[in-house]
Amino acid sequence: MTKRVAILLSGGGSNMVALAQSMTGDHPARPVLVMANSAGAGGLDKARALGIDTDFVDHRPYKGDRSAFEQALHDRLVQAQPDILCLAGFMRVLTEGFVRRWHGRMLNIHPSLLPKYRGLHTHARALAADDAQHGCTVHEVTPELDEGPILGQATVPVLAGDTPDTLAARVLIMEHRLYPAVLRRFAAGDRTPVHLP
Ligand code: GRF
Repeated sequence: MTKRVAILLSGGGSNMVALAQSMTGDHPARPVLVMANSAGAGGLDKARALGIDTDFVDHRPYKGDRSAFEQALHDRLVQAQPDILCLAGFMRVLTEGFVRRWHGRMLNIHPSLLPKYRGLHTHARALAADDAQHGCTVHEVTPELDEGPILGQATVPVLAGDTPDTLAARVLIMEHRLYPAVLRRFAAGDRTPVHLP
């Protein structure tokens, strides 16, 4: 049975585009909804251009009431009946309650070689630590931020003269390869980690 995938984003949605474009042909999944936490997320226009249903729940009116925001998000997601949720640059921290409701069905991409550099500013932190390698990770989402079983990693060499921006740009290219590769496996019921390149 084809798996139904909902993608959550906050920004430009380049990972969403990579995921959506991969779900064709014999791929075991199809995108059914792209959701954002604001109407202005650039990824929503890109999803519409790809012919995918979109919606948003603006987090701002829920200020201070994270679980009410998440309930609204959950209610909208449930309507689309997704089997899998992909977080793709979704910049809201999710509570344990929400995560538990989607347990085993929610993936995230994080721009570091986890367990290194959970949280923000990963590229600057890798440079400050003089790391020879950096990269990205796709993992199952568990209640702790940027934890959960690792489903794939892609490495990127750090080059002399790299800035956070140049490094981020090279990592992003690998994100666009890694996330679709992991989703394809995951949707087929295979959790064997993907290693790129
Ligand atoms: C990516 O770097 C992702 O790893 C991070 O946020 C960024 C999203 O970029 N969590 P995009 O919206 O997919 O272009």
